[in-house]
Amino acid sequence: MTPAASDPAGSDKEVMMVSHAGSCLFCALDTNDLETALSFARQLRGAVGGLKLGLEFFVANGPEGIRKVTAAGGLPLFLDLKFHDIPNTAAGAVRSAVALEPTFLTIHTSGGAAMMKAAAETAHSEAERLGIARPRLLGVTVLTSLTDRELHSVGQETPVAEQVQRLAALAQEAGLDGVVCSPHEIAAVRAQSGADFTIMVPGIRPATALLGDQKRVMTPAQARAAGADYLVIGRPITQEKDPAAAARKIAAELR
Ligand code: C5P
Repeated sequence: MTPAASDPAGSDKEVMMVSHAGSCLFCALDTNDLETALSFARQLRGAVGGLKLGLEFFVANGPEGIRKVTAAGGLPLFLDLKFHDIPNTAAGAVRSAVALEPTFLTIHTSGGAAMMKAAAETAHSEAERLGIARPRLLGVTVLTSLTDRELHSVGQETPVAEQVQRLAALAQEAGLDGVVCSPHEIAAVRAQSGADFTIMVPGIRPATALLGDQKRVMTPAQARAAGADYLVIGRPITQEKDPAAAARKIAAELR
């Protein structure tokens, strides 16, 4: 059971029972190897607030792999499967995912309001049926790998920043709990959506790390100051010799 599962009513935005400097950090375990993920999960217990597992891991290891990693880490799970389909099918995927007791689960906001509403309703009803905490549904806005130019090439004329705000508003209206967005959109989404809307942010680099592309990344402290609730950090933790120490060092930047 994840810590959030002890809060079945679960209407509060703060869903973490763990409380330490790294509580807002989710470490992305971008691997297809079960043993590697299990090892990180064991090492990172107490050093981060949760673990993010995505499609790379899920496609290789399935629900059973997810359960094993969650059990090994005893940490809240961010299940980043980015569902995007017709409302009935997306809702069915959410129904299946609820049984894995993720604290956070993602769907694409560009799937539209009807898809998001169906997903949100199903997350509620299925969690209630199973008697477990419902996952917080987060909407993926514009993938951080897309630029204005790339959006334009798929017929999307609105600039990235404006499109993220539009999709965040749509997600909130549809009953989602929050969004995933790049560090650059945190402040605008926070101003628009209010304090209760969860903002989960990837693209974070510790202040001590070399910034490959200064424009596209932010430090943990900058992202939190801009209004992010949770930070997704992968390689700056997983590629270090001592991942737990690296996570604690990042957490220390937030104090
Ligand atoms: O780069 P890093 O290893 O910290 O990435 C962690 C997670 O953040 C990845 O799993 C990816 O989903 C996400 N990410 C992103 N946009 C980026 C970089 C990473 O959404 N520009």
